[in-house]
Amino acid sequence: MRVLGIETSCDETGVAVYARDGGLLAHALYSQVELHARYGGVVPELASRDHIRKLLPLVQDVMSEAGTGASDIDGVAFTAGPGLVGALLVGALTGRCLAWSWGVSAIAVHHMEGHLLAPMLEPETPGFPFIALLVSGGHSLLVEVNGVGRYRVLGDSIDDAVGEAFDKTAKLLGLPYPGGPALAQLALQGNPERFTFPRPMTDRPGLDFSFSGLKTFALNTWRESAQDDQARADIARAFEEAVVDTMVIKCRRALHQTGIRQLIIAGGVGANQRLRERLGQLMAEEDGRVFYPRPEFCTDNGAMIAYAGYRRLLAGQTAPLSVNVTPRWSLEELDPADA
Ligand code: KG4
Ligand code: ZN
Repeated sequence: MRVLGIETSCDETGVAVYARDGGLLAHALYSQVELHARYGGVVPELASRDHIRKLLPLVQDVMSEAGTGASDIDGVAFTAGPGLVGALLVGALTGRCLAWSWGVSAIAVHHMEGHLLAPMLEPETPGFPFIALLVSGGHSLLVEVNGVGRYRVLGDSIDDAVGEAFDKTAKLLGLPYPGGPALAQLALQGNPERFTFPRPMTDRPGLDFSFSGLKTFALNTWRESAQDDQARADIARAFEEAVVDTMVIKCRRALHQTGIRQLIIAGGVGANQRLRERLGQLMAEEDGRVFYPRPEFCTDNGAMIAYAGYRRLLAGQTAPLSVNVTPRWSLEELDPADA
């Protein structure tokens, strides 16, 4: 079985071909970061229009790189949510129409299921069950994963997602968009002793996250400081440390609560080196193992959508001919897909 995967939920156009024999045959990504940079965030209408321009040429490139003609494709997977409605519609309509014209099945994929199955694209994969920490610009989720489509959400963000908190804090420190990687880079030069930021919601039971207060804390700290380069780096360091520490505390709780000893990290913030270092230490202490997708599959990509779609098609699931997207969609609403 060969599956074409299409991702257009936000500001990245991702395409890939995944095969039962051979795994990932080809993948490519077009990022709109430059397009949105001068607005300091994603402009939904510009995102949709750019997906329209980039998607079909990318499909052609990836299929030719994979040595795959239309007649070799057995199914088309597209991201159907959550995400920006206009952006999702571009990928869903294109994917559905390609599948119809080629006479093959289509499958609608949940973007976060893509992220949490992304470690399966690596040579060493975790077996079920595992705990997934999904940390992106739109989500901070802790999920117990008992199989494809068998998800229990243990913790969720009650306000800003963790990537969003990184981006907003970076913006108020005057760093370029997208702020997460820039803030992490700057934090390397910061003094960890100078400021201590709170660890939100760790003083009470539960696994939910709240990061919006940290951004205000950073703003107040910045206003009261000399507002020079050293203060900027020290605040970046204290902010990153507080966010990472909070996630480590919640992951430890999730492991103890479930007795599960495998952890996977996915989503854009999973590229954060300090987070990786600290979670590595945690899993060593807990006598468990941590798994990551390679950095390019931590952020949005087509490969994870092709793979999630492949698993669902293998289990006999398909999407109807009507095209539906679901901008708000819980992982717990998904059907199990046992092949
Ligand atoms: O998963 P993703 O590519 O897109 C969404 O679905 O949101 O995640 C993007 C997010 C952005 O907020 C970006 O600032 C953040 O991931 N990010 C980072 C790092 N690299 C990307 N945040 C902290 N440290 C990083 N190294
Ligand atoms: Zn994502």
